[in-house]
Amino acid sequence: SRGPGRIKPPSDFEAIAPAPAATDELIVPTGFEWAPLISWGDPVTKGAPAFDFDNQTPEAQRGQAGYNADFAALLIDGRGRGGQGSQGRRGVLVFNNEYTNDELMFRGVTGSADLTDTQLEIVQAAHGMTIVDVRRQRPGTPWEYNRRGRRNRRLHAHTEFALDGPAAGNAALRTSADRSGRTVLGTLNNCAGGVTPWGTVLSGEENFNQYFDATDAPDPDKRLARYGITSAGRGWERVDRRFKVAEEPNEVNRFGWVVEVDPDDPSSTPVKHTAMGRFKHEGANVRLADDGRAVAYMGDDERFDYIYKFVSKRRHRPGNRRHNMKLLSEGDLYVAKFNGDGAADGDYDGTGEWLPLVVDGRSHVPGWPVADVLIWTRQAADLVGPTKMDRPEDVEPNPVNGRVYAALTNNTSRKPGQQDEANPRTPNKHGHVLELTERRNDAAAVSFTWKIVLLAGDPGDPSTFFNGYDKSEVSPISCPDNVAFDKQGNLWISTDGQPGTLGNCDALYMMPLEGPEKGRLQQFLSVPVGAECCGPWITADERTVLIAVQHPGEVSGASPENPVSRFPYLGDGQPRPGVVQVHRR
Ligand code: FEO
Ligand code: CA
Ligand code: CA
Ligand code: CA
Repeated sequence: SRGPGRIKPPSDFEAIAPAPAATDELIVPTGFEWAPLISWGDPVTKGAPAFDFDNQTPEAQRGQAGYNADFAALLIDGRGRGGQGSQGRRGVLVFNNEYTNDELMFRGVTGSADLTDTQLEIVQAAHGMTIVDVRRQRPGTPWEYNRRGRRNRRLHAHTEFALDGPAAGNAALRTSADRSGRTVLGTLNNCAGGVTPWGTVLSGEENFNQYFDATDAPDPDKRLARYGITSAGRGWERVDRRFKVAEEPNEVNRFGWVVEVDPDDPSSTPVKHTAMGRFKHEGANVRLADDGRAVAYMGDDERFDYIYKFVSKRRHRPGNRRHNMKLLSEGDLYVAKFNGDGAADGDYDGTGEWLPLVVDGRSHVPGWPVADVLIWTRQAADLVGPTKMDRPEDVEPNPVNGRVYAALTNNTSRKPGQQDEANPRTPNKHGHVLELTERRNDAAAVSFTWKIVLLAGDPGDPSTFFNGYDKSEVSPISCPDNVAFDKQGNLWISTDGQPGTLGNCDALYMMPLEGPEKGRLQQFLSVPVGAECCGPWITADERTVLIAVQHPGEVSGASPENPVSRFPYLGDGQPRPGVVQVHRR
């Protein structure tokens, strides 16, 4: 008929057991099968050559799929773009290329000092984002990427981006190559992301600090230190002097933003939105407020850093993409404060408020101009008293119930006496997931209630909590990172950092948030040795689960001569991070 059936959680698959040992295998539940959709090095743009591990060039890599996919989204063409559902046979896949494993990309490389100039240029070209057309024969059959797709595109460390919003053009964003402070080359360390209601893709620039060589750079206001820009970088300054902070002090201020890309227009200039603040952006996900304003939820992934939200000034206009693509250019920026109501009620829960940083174009940080608040958002937020969180990763509104779910991956540095009800564990080795309900369930509200719905770990550990579900029937989980939702509003969680005591390999889980199976967390798959499980994405027709297998074989001592992983097992010997699809058989 219409091909294999839908994936209908929660009780539609039998949970897999955690990988018995670190294994170079992608494990899916009985009755499911997986296939690579695209892998590092696959040709994407016109004229790009096939992948050849031993003959890589910068030119080839600029036209081939980038390395280490994190966020991935597959948008099915046709009515209902962005998540309402479609049975179409064509679509577009967008994924981030967060960073590179230089020691696995090249023979004889153990650190950045070993990289030749050409290899450094290859590495720069392997960062950024990849956009490709995809197609399938019918719903439920595997997707394949179209080597000659109209929308195919690579964004890398030299692609032109426009800075927009209140800080664009600010003196702190001007460099010797860009005296306007409005045009940046490249996007870096793109981690998680989201799809907007108007069909564009948002991507967070996360650990951008690592690319900059801060040697000899003065830091009187500790602005560099607060962003971790404190050490020698990854050698990029050897081929690109803008990465030498002492020589080009403002270049670093042009990274750490949320990027918006229109995947349907390969000639469009992607945008960095200064109105959304600058920090180690994990990602950004939008929900519309009752009055139509666009509200973006965002995490700053660092121990003891914050959760933010942006509220657009203008309202969403259905069908008017040109207008909607300006929504994130102007609006209000808030940072979250969580107040606990005490342990006596048996729940980690309470109320919260969105503390204003910028509202109606005015700074709410005494003595700080708006542009400074947006460029050095971490220090500005420090001054208004938000809650220091356990590494906020993906923060994403659930399209079914409207609530917001924040993955707090772990914080091994939180010491006794530093806990609060929203970050109750010392240390927090396994992480937790927090549910936030805006007042009147309106995304534009300035206050909310909240509750921890998952305290991760071995279910046998009394400090774990699975939203009240019987812990004898749930899967162990650690280090929640990326989250996604299916059409029923079930929460999907992928992990990064599963310790050996808890299953050896990172994994993907599904957890219902309502009904009799609320809290019944079940493991759906696990990724190969050394890899982190990213994506995830449930296609709008519910027939494909998409994940990104990031850094397979990233194990101490691994090298091209000793490739601990050979994922995705295409016979060419070296591990190749990429995007994978899972279907019901
Ligand atoms: Fe790139 Fe916070 O994970
Ligand atoms: Ca409580
Ligand atoms: Ca992440
Ligand atoms: Ca991660």
